[in-house]
Amino acid sequence: MAASTPFQDPQFLKSEQYRDSRNLDARAELHRRFSTAVTPWHKWVFQQLNLQPSSRILECGCGPGWLWRNNLDALPPGCHITLTDLSDGMVAEAQAVLAVSDHDFQFRPADIQDLPFANDSFDVVIANHMLYHVPDRAQALAEVRRVLAENGRFYAATNGRRHMQELWQIGEGLFPDTAVPLTELRAERGIGSFQLENGMEQLTAVFPHVTRLLYEDGLEVTEADPLIAYLRSTFLMQNKTALTQEKEAQLRRKLQEQINRDGTIHITKETGLFVSW
Ligand SMILES: C[S@@+](CC[C@H](N)C(=O)[O-])C[C@H]1O[C@@H](n2cnc3c(N)ncnc32)[C@H](O)[C@@H]1O
Repeated sequence: MAASTPFQDPQFLKSEQYRDSRNLDARAELHRRFSTAVTPWHKWVFQQLNLQPSSRILECGCGPGWLWRNNLDALPPGCHITLTDLSDGMVAEAQAVLAVSDHDFQFRPADIQDLPFANDSFDVVIANHMLYHVPDRAQALAEVRRVLAENGRFYAATNGRRHMQELWQIGEGLFPDTAVPLTELRAERGIGSFQLENGMEQLTAVFPHVTRLLYEDGLEVTEADPLIAYLRSTFLMQNKTALTQEKEAQLRRKLQEQINRDGTIHITKETGLFVSW
């Protein structure tokens, strides 16, 4: 299926946005430093997995392997973990860090729409913040169902419609009359294609049981630069010339004024995890 937005264009995803972890890291940095959550995101997700010894686990769209790097000490013995991603660069980064672990990690570039694994080969499949990048989700979910064992579970994390809304408003304010593809980013076939609001109906088409767990969080940001770095890393800024030095200076002034006035910039977060079986 052809992608109608860069957000779901495999070539763009592999060779630009997720060629390596730099863009993802700029965004994660904002969350790491200014989150109000009690438990960090990757620890919370890991706790929900409730892994058992010797589980066979597949992560699709693993990125640089943060879910595992942050939870190595809590991994039960004997688990077999296969990490896959569309991007060779992401798989290589995950491998560089995790291959030294004593646990059984396997690494392989793979598209979730065409998984190179036999039927019934995993007890747990994870898709953390990646299904909205997949043009043919029905095909991806059929593949997940196929490789999952009879009593297996599928964990799919995503965001809600209002996630980071204040940041997008700031972005939109910067470009009131240019054709920066912000609207595309938020359009139904882009980031909106798999969200907390519409994921349930897509999953129940494939799995008899689906529940949704919400992660409580928000951001209280007290520095302008991490917000600018976040915006720079996004699809909004795929045309890197859009955020000129002048625009950036204007943005920094505006953010700093708000921080000086209010002490913080509040950013809404809406994030959660669907569990399907
Ligand atoms: C937002 S990142 C999330 C990374 C990681 N799961 C995490 O949460 O830290 C999305 C990841 O999905 C990968 N991806 C996008 N489309 C994919 C597809 N069709 N199959 C497998 N991976 C894909 C990207 O290359 C990227 O590494």
